[in-house]
Amino acid sequence: MRNLRLTLSFLRRIVNQGPILNTRTSLPNPDILRSISNITKSDRKIPAWIDASDPNTLSDLTDSFIVYNDFISEEEETSLMNELEPYMRRLRYERDHWDDAIHGYRETERRQWNAENSSILKRVSDIAFPPPTPKLAYVHILDLEKSGVIKPHIDAVRFCGNTIAGLSLLSTAVMRLTHDEDESKRADILLSRRSLYIMRDNSRYLYKHAVLGENESVFNGQKIERDRRVSVIMRNEPDKNISER
Ligand code: OGA
Ligand code: MN
Repeated sequence: MRNLRLTLSFLRRIVNQGPILNTRTSLPNPDILRSISNITKSDRKIPAWIDASDPNTLSDLTDSFIVYNDFISEEEETSLMNELEPYMRRLRYERDHWDDAIHGYRETERRQWNAENSSILKRVSDIAFPPPTPKLAYVHILDLEKSGVIKPHIDAVRFCGNTIAGLSLLSTAVMRLTHDEDESKRADILLSRRSLYIMRDNSRYLYKHAVLGENESVFNGQKIERDRRVSVIMRNEPDKNISER
């Protein structure tokens, strides 16, 4: 257990606390980035779930980030929570680490799921990690309390490949993507309750992501009620060709 938790905290260690503190160390070199494929460009309409700073950022992000609203049903959400809750309830929310990437959270990893939940997760993995993409066997569960926030960070390339897929349970939330080298390039993404998002390639490597707190949660000018939010996150294996700069 201790090892799992260590890995989880390392995952987000490269959080950018200010202008300098080194998210850049997590970025792959540009040659590798160029060789990684994008999410298909078939749907060119502006999706309702994104509010971007400018057209270039919009295009960059809609090539590499997608949200599927209502990816799971209410019954499936309940089924996932029924399996997770007895375990999560035993953990305490972590609140006091001012230098952490994340506040008001508890988390775990899980490998074994009951039959119904396995089939839900298989739907996620079929769409986010089509073979032969080697995905991590452990699914990451992150439980943010109502007042919890995830500060801007880029997941460490040492622990995660080019794709991050997340189901949002119990609450809608706003995710903010900010370009790591140009803060004026940013977008807010509406992660509706029971949606699935897939973040890959440019959005995963070049943009920091954050989940806004209850008072900052506004999307397209509209206040978004934040509650406790549980995310079920799958990632693929780190790319051995990518090393931290
Ligand atoms: C993380 C993270 C996003 C989410 O755990 O690194 O960014 O959807 N989580 O909970
Ligand atoms: Mn992250």
